[in-house]
Parts: sequence; structure tokens; C-alpha cells
Amino acid sequence: MCVHVLGISAVVVSGYDAVKEALVNKGEFTSDRPPVSGDGGEGKKHTMVSPFVRVCCEPSSFGIGSLSYIFAKYGEMWRRRRRFALTALRHFGVGRRVIETRINEEAYHLITVIREYDNDKPLDLRPFVNNAVSNVICSLCFGQRFEYDDPKFHKLLDCINNLFSAGISSWVRLKFPFLRKVPFLFTGLKEDEKKLNKFMSEIRLEHASTLDPNDPRDIIDTLLIKERSAEQIDGKDVFSSVFSKRGIIELFNAGTDTTTNTIMWIILNLVKFPDLQLKIQQEIDQHIGQGRTPLMADKPNLAFTNAFIAETQRVFPVAPLAVPHQISDDVRLQGYIIPKGTMMLANLWSAQNDTKYWKDPEQFDPSRFLNPEKMFERGDSWMPFSLGKRICLGEQLAKVELFLLVTNLLQRFTFSHPRDQPEPDVRMQGVMGMTWSTVPFKVKISSRS
Ligand code: HEM
Repeated sequence: MCVHVLGISAVVVSGYDAVKEALVNKGEFTSDRPPVSGDGGEGKKHTMVSPFVRVCCEPSSFGIGSLSYIFAKYGEMWRRRRRFALTALRHFGVGRRVIETRINEEAYHLITVIREYDNDKPLDLRPFVNNAVSNVICSLCFGQRFEYDDPKFHKLLDCINNLFSAGISSWVRLKFPFLRKVPFLFTGLKEDEKKLNKFMSEIRLEHASTLDPNDPRDIIDTLLIKERSAEQIDGKDVFSSVFSKRGIIELFNAGTDTTTNTIMWIILNLVKFPDLQLKIQQEIDQHIGQGRTPLMADKPNLAFTNAFIAETQRVFPVAPLAVPHQISDDVRLQGYIIPKGTMMLANLWSAQNDTKYWKDPEQFDPSRFLNPEKMFERGDSWMPFSLGKRICLGEQLAKVELFLLVTNLLQRFTFSHPRDQPEPDVRMQGVMGMTWSTVPFKVKISSRS
């Protein structure tokens, strides 16, 4: 299918077979990104942009050049930077016990803060979950977590959220560039850009003054070391200071909104299906109990919990169309020739609702992920993190966060529907912004111990 929105044309690839063919079999031709405004002026035909992207592009803040990870052009520069990010995430604990300990510490803070609230009052958990998830990335990137009431932390999160979520104004700025000069129109975003830039510069300075090249403490340290290596491709620095700043912000952004929204969809479904929530709690009680924190080693024993998380991500993928791709050379997809330069949207949602692979896909039914032995099993057509060369860089981290934060919360609390709030069903459509999020909702929280 071909769609035209706001003067932009894109091919939308739908259904599991087509999405897999496009992203995996023909990945060599479909893994580019459309240029973003400010990205070296490579053309505006299929330009995509957001204020967040602009922060990463504008000379006033983070300089011009091809972007770090998410919006980077497919090629050697992107490949090296992606490899660097994956190695850095692993080095600082992703895939090892270190990250479990870090996430469990954060879960402890989250639980403590929730307990401080009057349990009878319905609570919107989103800001707390967002703080917890952001802190996990903060500790990986900056080597520190923030207290949830620290004003510096909120300033940072606000700037990033504002820039990321103000998608509409980014289109206005793109379509009517002269409006960018109009006083007051985008001053808020400009201020956010400035604050973010200042925050990043300060934290880099602090790190640089105490850097031990043989013992990097976090991703900023690793980037500072890499900057000194002066690695180049075609005369361009792979790890410039500009890349360091924007790369951190990109990781931060890609990692917080998506994970927070997924957890909020999980909580909304727990409230909607109390019997399934009870089943998860029984599983946690049986295999972990109340006496210790959950570990990733518990994951294989918690088949239903895994199934519930997977089903939430199947029905409510927070990035249903992934991130826009671009065709780098004429390619045949499902028999059609798609010309070079076409924007391509991979409809992950359609693959996860493809009736050829999913029985009654519209039903929320975690048991579809359990095999006859009641073990958790995921089919190939489950792809909330996408597929192929551009598959989510933070998938491993996100999976650990989802499992540990959800099990920690359900070990301690029961979430239910407050009588004075609209039924969860009303909220299931969600809100489509940069990611697909729940409509704001409040839950009643009862302590289990
Ligand atoms: C539940 C949480 C998450 C979901 C559902 C998710 C999903 C996705 C999806 C669908 C894409 C687009 C892939 C494509 O274009 O085909 C993506 C890209 C990306 N994600 Fe995630 N993500 C999550 C968490 C994270 C985390 C925690 C991080 C960082 C630590 C992260 C970093 C990235 C990056 C850097 C990219 C761009 C990769 C590239 O273009 O090479 N994500 N993610």
C-alpha cells in the first residue's frame, strides 16, 4: 500500500510475509533511513523530522551531520556506531547480572515511592515508571541515578520529553521554515534545546576531569575515550563530541518512552484482566515468593508472566510502524518494484495481527504463547522490536527491564480499577505520538504484604 500524508509518500509493508521479506530477506536494500532536515541537505522529498531530531541536527545545539543511531543513514558510519553502542551496553552490564542488580535497585525505589502514596487514592503511575526507566538509562550513560524529586532530573526529563513529543510543531517547522524565525513560536523548544545542551556539556566536563582511560565508569567515559581515538571514515570522525552528545540523548530517548509506554500498557491490561493478574501473582508466589527480589534466572519458570508481557507487546506494540526506513536501491518486494529513495513503513502491528499466523488476533490471550508443555514460546511473527539490520538496539535491555520491573511490582502490589475512573476498555485505543501510548489513567494500588 502507498500512502501520502502531508506531502510525504511512503510504501507501507503489511503482513508477516511481506514485513519479513522486506526487513530480513531484502534488508540490504531497505535499511536506510529517510533524510532528516539538517542532515547534510541530502534531499527533502521524504524528510522526516521531530524537534528531538532537530536538537541532534542544528548547528545552534548539537551540530550538523548524519545522526547517531536511530536516524542515521545506513552505512559504515552507522554500523560502527551501532557496534560501539551494543558493546558499551554489554560492557556496563546488559546481558549480565550487573544490570539485574541495577534494575532491581530501581524497582526498590519505585516500590518505596508508590508505598508512600495513600493507597485509597487512585494514582497515575506513568511519571513514577518513567522516572524508574529513565534512571536505568541514566546509570548506564552517566553512572548515576537521580532521586525522583530531584529538580535537575525533572528538568532533564522534561526537556527530552518536550522535544520528543512535540511532533506536530516539527512538521510545521519543516513545512514552513520561515516560521522558525517568528519570535515566541518555538521559543519553548529552543529553550529546551539549550538546557539539554548545557546539561550534556556540564556532565561531559565533570566526567572528563576525573576520567581514567583504563577504567571507564559509564557510557560517557567510553565515549570520551573513543573521541580521543580519532577514528575516521572518509575524513569524518566516527566518534566526535557532537556524536557523543546526540548519541547519548538518542539512547535515552529511544529507551525511556518505549519501555515506559510498554509497562503502562501492561498495567492497563492487568487492571482490565484481574484474573490474569492473579495468575501472574500466583506464579511469582510459587517460584519466587515474597522473601527475595526477582532475578532473570526466574524467567524460565514464569511462563505465564512472560506470555502476558509478550501478548501485551503483540496487541499494543509501542512502535507499530517501527521507525521509517528508506529504500537504498530499486528492490522487488512481494512482486512489486519499489524504487530507490522511497520511504518504507514496516507495519509491525499487521504482522502481529496476521490471521495467517495468529488465531483470533484481536483477542487478548496470553496463553497463545504457551506450548502444550505450558512453557513460554514465541513465534517468529512476534516483532515489537522489529526485525533485520535495524532491529531495536536496546531489545535486550528492554526485555530485562520489562521482566524485572513488572515482576517486582506484582510481587508487592495488586492493581485494580478505581470505581470513579472510566472503564479500562474506554482507554484501549491509546494515543499515537512518536510512540503509541496509553491514554492517561489512574489505578487503585493495594499492597500485597
Ligand atoms: C519496550 C521497549 C522498546 C521497544 C518496543 C523498542 C522498539 C524499537 C523499534 C520498533 C525500533 C525500530 C526498528 C526499525 O526501524 O526497524 C527501535 C529502534 C531503536 N531502539 Fe528500541 N525499543 C525499545 C527499547 C529500547 C531501549 C531500552 C533502547 C536503548 C537502550 C532502544 C534503542 C533503540 C535504538 C538506538 C534504535 C535504532 C536502531 C537503528 O536504527 O539501528 N530501544 N526500537
